[in-house]
Amino acid sequence: MGQMDGMVAMVTGASRGLGRAIAREYAREGASVVISARSQSPTGLAGTLEETASDIRSAGGDVLAVNCDVTDEEQVNDMVRRAVERYGRIDVLFNNAGTMVLGESILEIDPARWDRLIRVNVGGPYLCTRAVLPIMMEQRKGSIINIGSRMATDPAQGGGVLYSASKAAVHMFSLCLADEVKDYNIAVNILSPGSLRSEGSAAIPWTQRDWHERVDPSAVGPSAVFLALQDAGSFTGQLAARAEFGATWGPGIH
Ligand SMILES: NC(=O)c1ccc[n+]([C@@H]2O[C@H](COP(=O)([O-])OP(=O)(O)OC[C@H]3O[C@@H](n4cnc5c(N)ncnc54)[C@H](OP(=O)(O)O)[C@@H]3O)[C@@H](O)[C@H]2O)c1
Repeated sequence: MGQMDGMVAMVTGASRGLGRAIAREYAREGASVVISARSQSPTGLAGTLEETASDIRSAGGDVLAVNCDVTDEEQVNDMVRRAVERYGRIDVLFNNAGTMVLGESILEIDPARWDRLIRVNVGGPYLCTRAVLPIMMEQRKGSIINIGSRMATDPAQGGGVLYSASKAAVHMFSLCLADEVKDYNIAVNILSPGSLRSEGSAAIPWTQRDWHERVDPSAVGPSAVFLALQDAGSFTGQLAARAEFGATWGPGIH
């Protein structure tokens, strides 16, 4: 018996890194997973949506893979429509798709990169949430997990103006949303995963300074499963750090 048997979980940005790890973990726990990423990643990084889907299938999991750019409202709506067509419900939205610009100064970041990152990191969770919410509201149950960062609250982490500002926006978006949807029994939490050895991180020179301290994205699995199982009556409106899972929050801790 998996902890997520019978549940349907949507994970954005699942072609690699954290999204792939969480999609695999949710499927291992028995959820049907709807995974997405862009049809053609401009990043050139390893990992495709089809590879994630075939990993999950070979492990006996149930998966629907949908190409979707989270900055494109039509593609987002289509992803949600296809998920509902196939499974009839969506229990969990793991708003993971994101992009990182780290260790660069404001003068190095031109307006086009600024806009692109904000559209993915802030606009993505907004569009995906907006498309999924009516389904969760009708179910009167759901869990939305947005990916935050220590850089959203601490300038000393060195994330720089753009990435840190985008994640601070994700934090506030989540806290306000949690309040807005609590009467529909929908949980909204921020998962701060800590520094990861993802493909995206590996491509950024700035991350090499603490590479030895970074953890594999699979280490985030148990905390992401716990959050997926929450509703507004149990655990919502929280900034939950993966590093503190089991110590200050988690099963049996109130
Ligand atoms: N790595 C860390 O140390 C760390 C720490 C704290 C928080 N985070 C956050 O965790 C999340 C995942 O990071 P990661 O390290 O796993 O990054 P990653 O290895 O670069 O993976 C990013 C994922 O997002 C997808 N993506 C990017 N832009 C997209 C778009 N416009 N539409 C749809 N999918 C898009 C990518 O897919 P395609 O390119 O194939 O479309 C990929 O699957 C991000 O929100 C990041 O900010 C990471």
